[in-house]
Amino acid sequence: MKTKVIQSRWFEYDHYGDADVLHERTEVLPPPGDGEVTVEVLTTSINHMEVFLRNGKESTWSDDPWPRRSGSDFAGIVVAAGPGARFRLGAQVIGHVRTGAHASHLTVPSEALVLKPANVMWEVAGALYLAGATALDTLDQLRIGPGDTIVVSAAAGGVGSLQTQLAKHRGARVIGTCGDRNFDYLRQLGITPVRYGDGIADRIRRVAGGPVTAFVDNFGKDGRELAEELDVPESRYRSSADRRDVELSLLQEDADSVAHGTSQLERLAQLAHAGAFRLLISGLYPLADIIVAYEDLAHMHSRGKVVLATRPVTTYRTIKAREIHEAMTGGYAA
Ligand SMILES: NC(=O)c1ccc[n+]([C@@H]2O[C@H](COP(=O)([O-])OP(=O)(O)OC[C@H]3O[C@@H](n4cnc5c(N)ncnc54)[C@H](OP(=O)(O)O)[C@@H]3O)[C@@H](O)[C@H]2O)c1
Repeated sequence: MKTKVIQSRWFEYDHYGDADVLHERTEVLPPPGDGEVTVEVLTTSINHMEVFLRNGKESTWSDDPWPRRSGSDFAGIVVAAGPGARFRLGAQVIGHVRTGAHASHLTVPSEALVLKPANVMWEVAGALYLAGATALDTLDQLRIGPGDTIVVSAAAGGVGSLQTQLAKHRGARVIGTCGDRNFDYLRQLGITPVRYGDGIADRIRRVAGGPVTAFVDNFGKDGRELAEELDVPESRYRSSADRRDVELSLLQEDADSVAHGTSQLERLAQLAHAGAFRLLISGLYPLADIIVAYEDLAHMHSRGKVVLATRPVTTYRTIKAREIHEAMTGGYAA
């Protein structure tokens, strides 16, 4: 049988720096090995952790050889499968990888993939992994459930908007800190908004109507002092540094870590399928505009996730996911 030639373009960098160190490279991919699949990426997203790894602020994996790739979240269509792979050609999947998702195609072990529920939009699917699994892991560690009143900082951002909605879905009362511009957004999600800045403890007490039982500081400024002022038990406080640890463990490549990441991704896919949360797309950029997308993220006012698309539909380019899927499966999918 003739092997299909798959050419991938991806973003990589060969020294530390801002987003403008990223440059595109194109190469033919080797065929997937045992248990691996090649995915045509339709959507992928960007995260602050990639920024810290790229600018050298985060030293984990500083021994990696150059050039280094970028990106951990992706969703797409299986276009080649190695022997023993768990997904067939044309399967619509959501995946995770330590780095390299900012690409048109990538090859990963099948263990890093789950099926995309049909009703989960591509833009959402490609943004689920790192932010969603970080949100889930933190809520799991804190055992958030009915009876809790939890405060989440940066509640409208990528991680916060998922954490707040997932906490509410578990039956907790949820208070989210944000700027004035996000009050309506959080209220629509059933989250009680509180403006950050001076006097925040009093504002939280006024709306809490009882003890605050847990506090997650995503933003990383004055969180511990605020949690102490609100009498949150130390064991139920999570700092921005704790979040860093969660994110780094979700990116580890040993078999147990990958299995854990995939099982959290499966839970997220099912929660998205069931409508347990709505992930707002703060910005959707063509993959080629990755530098602009990172500049958008750096403004620190995302509402939901910033997403990259490899084939955004424009007046000039109209290839859709459906057409790729049909090309792989040889006809219209059921
Ligand atoms: N420690 C680590 O290693 C680590 C790892 C990952 C992320 N982080 C940090 O976690 C934060 C949130 O991450 P994310 O991925 O959710 O970011 P994001 O999607 O970029 O969201 C940023 C959010 O921060 C909010 N914000 C801006 N200024 C704020 C302030 N002074 N106080 C409280 N919130 C403020 C914004 O809300 P408004 O628009 O309502 O102002 C926005 O919703 C970022 O600061 C990021 O640097 C830390």
